[in-house]
Amino acid sequence: MNELVEKLREEKILSREEFKILLAEGGEELHKAAREVCESVFGTDVYIRGLIEFTNYCGRNCNYCGIRSGNAKLERYRLSVGEILACCAKGYELGIRTFVLQGGEDDFYSDERLVEAIVRIKTNHPDCAITLSVGERSRESYKRLFDAGADRYLLRHETASDELYARLHPADLSLASRKKCLLDLKEIGYQVGCGFMVGSPGQTLGHIADDFLFIRELDPHMVGIGPFMPHADTVYADEPPGDLNLVLNALAILRLMNPNVLLPSTTALGTLSKKGRELGILAGANVVMPNLTPAVFRKKYMLYDNKIGTSDDAVKTKTKIAEQMQNVGRKIVVKRGDFGDV
Ligand code: 5AD
Repeated sequence: MNELVEKLREEKILSREEFKILLAEGGEELHKAAREVCESVFGTDVYIRGLIEFTNYCGRNCNYCGIRSGNAKLERYRLSVGEILACCAKGYELGIRTFVLQGGEDDFYSDERLVEAIVRIKTNHPDCAITLSVGERSRESYKRLFDAGADRYLLRHETASDELYARLHPADLSLASRKKCLLDLKEIGYQVGCGFMVGSPGQTLGHIADDFLFIRELDPHMVGIGPFMPHADTVYADEPPGDLNLVLNALAILRLMNPNVLLPSTTALGTLSKKGRELGILAGANVVMPNLTPAVFRKKYMLYDNKIGTSDDAVKTKTKIAEQMQNVGRKIVVKRGDFGDV
C-alpha cells in the first residue's frame, strides 16, 4: 500500500491492477497523503461554486437519474433568464465568484437563450466565472457558448468502460459521443471537468481503474465524482448506494494523480454520510458547490433520493458549508478559483 502511494505520488500513474489494490486497501494513509498534497498546493483555501439548477427538463433517459425523461411523476420546471440572474445576484452577495448553470438536456435552452444568460451574467458580474453543465451538444454550440463568455464546462464521462456505459444508458447514448464532446470542449478552450459515479450498478474496481486511466489521458482541469445514490423512480430504485470509503479512496487517488486538479466534495457525498463533505476535503477535495437554486424548485431537481439541503435557501446552504469547512480547518475564499491559479 505504502509503496503504491509513493509510486503514485512520484510517477502520478499506476497500472490497472495497482489502482485496484489502492482502491480496495486505501484508507487514512492514502487520504493523508492526498490531503498533504492538496494543502501544499492550495493551503487552507477551498473554492466555492454556486450551483444553479435551472431546468429539470431532460431529453435523455439515463437509467440512474431522477430527472430522466421517462420519469412521468416528476413535475418539470425551468428558470427564466431573469430568475437565473437573481440567483447569481444572491450568490454574489454571499461571496460566490463562479456560477454553475446545470440542467437537463432541455431543448428550450437553445444556444440563443443560453448565450443571453451568459452575456447578462457576465455584464452584471464581470469578475465571475461561468461553468456550464448542460450535457451533450454540438461542437458549434459549445463554441458559441464559449465565445459568449462561458469559461468552464462539466460533463461527467460517467464511466470509461463501453460495456458499463451501455448498461447504464439507453441505446441513443454512447461513450464515444461523450468522449468526443469532452475533446471538443477542451480544444475550444474551456476548463473541462469529467467525472463518474462510484458504486453505479454493475461497476467493479476494474471499471474505476479504467476511469483513472481515461482521466490520465484526457487530463481534465476538474473531476467530479460522488457515490451513486438510488432514486425511487428510476431503473435502479432498489440498488445500494456507493461505498463511502471507496469514494474517499477515489478522491485521494485523483488528487495524487494531479495535485492541481479542481476536485469537489460533492452534495451526493454529503447525502451519503452526515460528515461526507468534510471527509471528502480530508481525502484531497478542494471545491464545494453550494446550491443557489430557489428553494421552491430544489425538491424537483432530485437526481437521487434524500438529497440534502432541499429545504434550505442560499444563505443557509452557504452558511452550513462554511461551517463544515471550518470544522476541518479550511476557509472558503472569495475567488473565481480557476485551474492553475495557485
Ligand atoms: N446518484 C448519484 N449521482 C447521480 N447523477 C445522476 N444521477 C445520479 C444518482 N442517482 C450524477 C451524474 C451526472 C451528474 C449531474 O449527477 O453523474 O453527470
